[in-house]
Amino acid sequence: MDAERLRSLVDDRVAEGAFSVHRDVFRDPEIFELEMKHIFEGTWVFLGLDSQAPSPHDFFTTFIGRQPVVVSRDRAGTLRCFVNSCRHRGSIVCHTQRGNRKVHTCPYHGWVYDSAGRLLDMKDGRQARYPEGFAGQDHDLVAIPRFGSYRGFLFGSLNPAVAPLHEHLGDARTGIDLVVDQSPEGVELLRGTHSYTFNANWKLQIENCVDAYHLTSTHPSYIEIVNRRKSGESANQMASVDFGRYKDEQAVRGSFCFDHGYNILWGVNPAFRARPLHESLGELRERVGEVRARWMLYMRNLTLFPNAQFAENASLQLRVLRPLAVDKTEMTTWCVAPRGESAAARSLRIRQYEDFFNASGLATPDDSVSFEDCQAGYQGRLVDWQQGYVRGMGLLKAGGNAYSEELGVTPRTSVCGPFDVQDETIFHSLYREWLHLLTRGLAAMAPQAVPMLPMAARGAR
Ligand code: FES
Ligand SMILES: [Fe+2]
Repeated sequence: MDAERLRSLVDDRVAEGAFSVHRDVFRDPEIFELEMKHIFEGTWVFLGLDSQAPSPHDFFTTFIGRQPVVVSRDRAGTLRCFVNSCRHRGSIVCHTQRGNRKVHTCPYHGWVYDSAGRLLDMKDGRQARYPEGFAGQDHDLVAIPRFGSYRGFLFGSLNPAVAPLHEHLGDARTGIDLVVDQSPEGVELLRGTHSYTFNANWKLQIENCVDAYHLTSTHPSYIEIVNRRKSGESANQMASVDFGRYKDEQAVRGSFCFDHGYNILWGVNPAFRARPLHESLGELRERVGEVRARWMLYMRNLTLFPNAQFAENASLQLRVLRPLAVDKTEMTTWCVAPRGESAAARSLRIRQYEDFFNASGLATPDDSVSFEDCQAGYQGRLVDWQQGYVRGMGLLKAGGNAYSEELGVTPRTSVCGPFDVQDETIFHSLYREWLHLLTRGLAAMAPQAVPMLPMAARGAR
């Protein structure tokens, strides 16, 4: 695989009205290996929220690409992130998803580390007759090269050369602000997670979260159930999220694409009164202003490329994805909520969340089946190029529009129009960053040209 081959897989000719992605991008195991190395292990990756480890010695485990890591708050309260692998012979040290431990004991030969990753004890070390110099070596858990936080959103990178986090996130920070600022005390992940896998490429999920076009065809069961509740045919009269109202004429829909694969799909929400956050509208207006308060009640799906998405459509969901193979992906999801919301709002949030999301909800299984259908369809190898990246191109604009201006962000591109446009140009930013990271990674790996020395000089070495 070389850079030229990779470039041939993304047909990016927007000026000529063309954009497409070759299906090998989703089905070639060699490309998957490059993605793990140069995307997941080559750029900033979302790790979690600092509220997942609020107290000294709290920890949670996750992955950066294929590499297991543990985020741990040490005795002094500093968050750290280490490779979750024992220095002795490699065993996973922390086996649980989260917990509170002053020390972590490797289950294999019993080396003991503290919550700052320092080796405290080497079992039977005195009797070991280690060679001279061994005691002086570094035996601590290995810290990942870059670890940073933006407003409690934790990111890590295995690549020491990444740009500072703040700079890398750019205007995607505003997307994060619109989540964090929903309460003066910030947001929290509700207890309990769902974890499931689907047999398809990870980029199907990354696309789907900001794919407005699939809603009415993939999720009719959800839409019909909400219609039955509205008509009184169903005894369940909960305040459902009514996507049918998104077709109202007032319901402007748009997308913003930022650098580094970040994007936001957004929509004015005519049913905003059914949102649990609506109870805080007065407080929000005072604290963050009318514009941001209004945007918090819009439907907004935010992609933190390559591995996390905040979906604020039915309730507020955090999704973290972990690619396992070219055709297998693991998802872990949480319900996110503003701290301190009323019991009624919290209850409504959870009901709306479980209605739509999770492997047991009305929408997530529909999406997972569609991903697997696509992956199966990619075996139709007479077809190379997708036709799903040009919807909305007639409205595509370089830069922003009145909506981005009021929000104070400067997207690379934007689209704004009625609901039925269901723009697909929002995917362009994903594939531009995908190509950039892969070709940059390949270039860094290319062997440097070694000047030939004269024979005599070579002999003298
Ligand atoms: S692998 Fe951890 S103590 Fe041996
Ligand atoms: Fe969906």
